[in-house]
Amino acid sequence: MDKISQQKLEELNNKYVKEKVEEAIKLCKPAKVTVMTDAKEDIAYLRSLAINNEEEKKLKMEGHTIHFDGYYDQGRDKPHTKYLLFKDVDWGLGVNYIEKDEGLKEIYSFLDGSMAGKEMLVKFFSLGPINSIFSLKALQITDSAYVAHSEDLLYRQGYEEFKNLNGSSDFFFFLHSSGRLKNGVSTDIDKRRIYIDLEENEVYSVNNQYAGNSLGLKKLAFRLAINKAQNEGWLAEHMFIMGVHGIKNRVTYFTGAFPSGCGKTSTAMIPGQTIVGDDIAYLKKINSKVMAVNVESGIFGIIRNVNPEDDPLIYRALTSPGELIFSNVLINDNIPYWLGMGKDIPNMGVNHSGEWVNGKKDKDGNIINCSHKNARFTIRLNALENIDSKADDPAGVPIKGIIYGGRDSDTTVPIVESITWEHGVFLGAIVESETTSATIGAEGVRKHNPMANLDFISVPFMTYIKNHLKFKNDLKEIPKIYAVNYFLKDENGNFLTGKTYNKLWILWAEGRVNGDYEAIETPIGQIPKYEDLKGIAKRELKIDYTEEEYVKVFSLKITKYLKKMERMIKIFGNIDMPVNFNEELKSQILRLQKTREKYGREIISPFNFLEK
Ligand code: GTP
Ligand code: MN
Repeated sequence: MDKISQQKLEELNNKYVKEKVEEAIKLCKPAKVTVMTDAKEDIAYLRSLAINNEEEKKLKMEGHTIHFDGYYDQGRDKPHTKYLLFKDVDWGLGVNYIEKDEGLKEIYSFLDGSMAGKEMLVKFFSLGPINSIFSLKALQITDSAYVAHSEDLLYRQGYEEFKNLNGSSDFFFFLHSSGRLKNGVSTDIDKRRIYIDLEENEVYSVNNQYAGNSLGLKKLAFRLAINKAQNEGWLAEHMFIMGVHGIKNRVTYFTGAFPSGCGKTSTAMIPGQTIVGDDIAYLKKINSKVMAVNVESGIFGIIRNVNPEDDPLIYRALTSPGELIFSNVLINDNIPYWLGMGKDIPNMGVNHSGEWVNGKKDKDGNIINCSHKNARFTIRLNALENIDSKADDPAGVPIKGIIYGGRDSDTTVPIVESITWEHGVFLGAIVESETTSATIGAEGVRKHNPMANLDFISVPFMTYIKNHLKFKNDLKEIPKIYAVNYFLKDENGNFLTGKTYNKLWILWAEGRVNGDYEAIETPIGQIPKYEDLKGIAKRELKIDYTEEEYVKVFSLKITKYLKKMERMIKIFGNIDMPVNFNEELKSQILRLQKTREKYGREIISPFNFLEK
């Protein structure tokens, strides 16, 4: 470590930080150690280091770079992401853990000497806005300039914030090494490990580069935060935050939790609305109101199907000069191409599989697409035209509505409002979703994913739900809760509601929380009236929304719903759940059964529920 880095470390006056850095050096044995502050020069240094290291390559457009992850490192590695725990535990919905001493021994052995010949980067970040009671502090040590550069785009700088710690150990610590590299990618993938220590608030990650595995500040810090939140009585959630722009220049803030690949970014980016965040939110009760901040300051977004028609704002940002990182797309003549970009794709180039030609197969005989389905872009939020004016407000934004969504091709309606807060928590807890390419494994399998948070809940499920149920206590105004589903399909497998329709559902919810619309009471909650959606469609989309379309998607498919409830009984019947949660499940089933008896039909039109 040179004098300057040493000086930067000293100035923090924090023995715990120093200890972490010293331990990491002893373990990983880097050739060089560089400590960074929030200074522009340090950020610029990282950017050029990523290029010099060949972790990123410059593209034709000013500020744009491309980074490739290994062919088998293209999603979150769930099987190898584990908690380090001392004893056998049962969290209700399963927990992937390893005995702590054994886990530490294993990961230390993989980290031992992992930075030989490499430069160790020491960075400080703030999870949440600067100078905010919401925010947590994070120390990241990595040998990947790509990882540190990505975090510079995605998080707020925290060196100065660390000074405010006044020497305390109240920060998260992340140690990452991409391990041995071959052609720029981690080669010891069989030794990819991501181990989380909830007691120490530390995460170790080794032999990987894909951001979901390597960037400690993203889903790994999120797991630590969920644990901390339960202990302190606030919520850390897998949620976007957006300003929904209703009539008369009204802006109403919503948060929404959807599993990976199910529409968080797309929803937060709906044209005409403003984005606060698209992935992780901290929610607290302040003066009896729910306030929320975006933990991040950038987007690590799925690039597939980003095209001028569906995502005009992101598309424009991706095709304009400015600092951004593409990952795992096709490069031809230093220009990026991806699936569903709405443009002709060249027949050859370089992608995550190396030199690529159309029709290329991998060693298992699978056709390799021009870009990976989970290829991504990394960009600062302030590069977008639709960033909300309060995106960095240390006080957060007031939340009036909470949305849960999943990927469901055949059961749930496009939007429903919960009957009560408790019913809303229930709606969040019964989210199921068909899997996508954002995690490693088969696609299109229906999986239960409560609050879109199954992968990240780092406490017993009972505790997590209890914390949600009691969050409404002492609130002057309780946010309304919605469940949405953008992914209903017809008999031929075609989507029934286009992406542009999402605006209808969200604007209806905005009108509801502000008292503009009445709703139809059904056994599953309150659904929109046809006339209201028709009005919004006319005003906002300039289309005639037909009664036929409405009836098709808002009809209650009673047998399918009851089947879903049977699946829920299987899940929740086996674990300890709060009494009022079990009551929600029981009364939901009862309401459905009664409705079936009353109408004697499988499918009930929303108009039937209007008849008294
Ligand atoms: P993560 O970033 O992995 O957490 O995912 P996300 O929740 O942000 O998902 P995102 O908004 O990026 O959407 C994932 C994919 O679903 C993209 O390919 C979108 O084009 C597609 N998508 C989003 N909304 C809709 C929709 O309303 N209908 C359909 N058919 N596809 C959608
Ligand atoms: Mn996203």
